[in-house]
Amino acid sequence: MEIKNILIVDDEPVNLKILRAMLVPEGYNVVEADNGAKALELIDLALPDIILLDVMMPEIDGFEVCRRIKSQKERRMIPILMVTALQDKIHRQQAMEAGADDFLSKPIDRIELLIRVKSLLRIKKYSDELIESYQMLKEKNRQLEELEKAKEGLTHMIIHDLRGPLTNISMNIDMCLMKIDPTSPISSYLNNASQQCLYMNEMIQGLLDIHRMEEGKIDLVREYINLKDLIAEVAENYSSQLETKKITMNLEFHSSVSRLLVDPRLIKRIIFNLLDNAVRHTPQGGQILIRTEDSLDGKCITISVIDSGPGLDEKFHDRIFNKFEQVKLKKEGVTTGSIGLGLAFCKMATEQHGGKIWVSHGPNGKGCSFSFMLPVEPEGNCRS
Ligand SMILES: Nc1ncnc2c1ncn2[C@@H]1O[C@H](COP(=O)(O)OP(=O)(O)OP(=O)(O)O)[C@@H](O)[C@H]1O
Ligand SMILES: [Mg+2]
Repeated sequence: MEIKNILIVDDEPVNLKILRAMLVPEGYNVVEADNGAKALELIDLALPDIILLDVMMPEIDGFEVCRRIKSQKERRMIPILMVTALQDKIHRQQAMEAGADDFLSKPIDRIELLIRVKSLLRIKKYSDELIESYQMLKEKNRQLEELEKAKEGLTHMIIHDLRGPLTNISMNIDMCLMKIDPTSPISSYLNNASQQCLYMNEMIQGLLDIHRMEEGKIDLVREYINLKDLIAEVAENYSSQLETKKITMNLEFHSSVSRLLVDPRLIKRIIFNLLDNAVRHTPQGGQILIRTEDSLDGKCITISVIDSGPGLDEKFHDRIFNKFEQVKLKKEGVTTGSIGLGLAFCKMATEQHGGKIWVSHGPNGKGCSFSFMLPVEPEGNCRS
């Protein structure tokens, strides 16, 4: 069994002798100090597991010694048992206020002393174990963070370096396409391969952009935009897909704000992503509505993309904004080039503008309504 160290502090040699005589036979290692200053000095040398502290001492009294020990972070876990002839409540209260853990009256009863010492040592043992576990967890966490950082760095490097060979493959496919009969079956295979290269390139770009945003390396390049024109321009890109799926798309502009000072590249990509999802999830003959409106205080503007698709269970409403989070919908077909980065990008890009993004159910609880809010003034904030 590990021998416990007990520091006893008393200015009366006879009291030190009595305490020693009670504790040593029980297997404790006793260190003595006959005044407060000496006790404070001895703590780092003796490394006591418990301190028995007399109250009435010349110069620095027991209350003050206790206060000083308990005010030091690395020493405050040492239990202090105040030992005194003072009986009144005021002194007990003073001892507790100074941070003492327990109180023992003189003349000392041996059994009572041993019980208190044992109980305080048990508490000290638990707190030591807790501190040790906390330190271990802290260290493990630090190692994990380091590992995660190294892994991210490596992944980022690989993703970055994939672009070179991919461009090369793409260029070679294009060259083959130029040399063969466009009506041949090989041409259609090559066209397909070329399309896949484009998807891959987009994914790589998306990953690199997200990485840069996470590192805080994307600076907004703000320009005045006309929101209505920008939305119409993005929507126009989907006209043929809408026609094929016979989806009706409506644009409703209820906002009084027409010009916004934002990064057009990022805002366009947010709308692209939301519209891309809406078109993908809306069934044949469905509807999509893009709507803008002012916030009640007029400081923010909300842009919503509402679809008549299968909707999303509420339990996914927060999660889908995480990277690589995808929800498998029962009737969802295979979607090429989709890896679950779109909404993560939208979240980072809106937040970078001081805005926020969320999803709710569409009208009558059907479909999805993805909305993002942007501050009208560049220094504004809609995140609260
Ligand atoms: N309009 C929507 N209706 C139903 N589910 C949606 C809708 N938009 C997004 N989701 C769900 O949220 C998931 C995450 O969307 P996100 O745009 O981040 O990724 P993705 O579309 O799967 O891939 P990527 O955008 O990277 O091509 C989707 O996989 C889908 O399960
Ligand atoms: Mg998407």
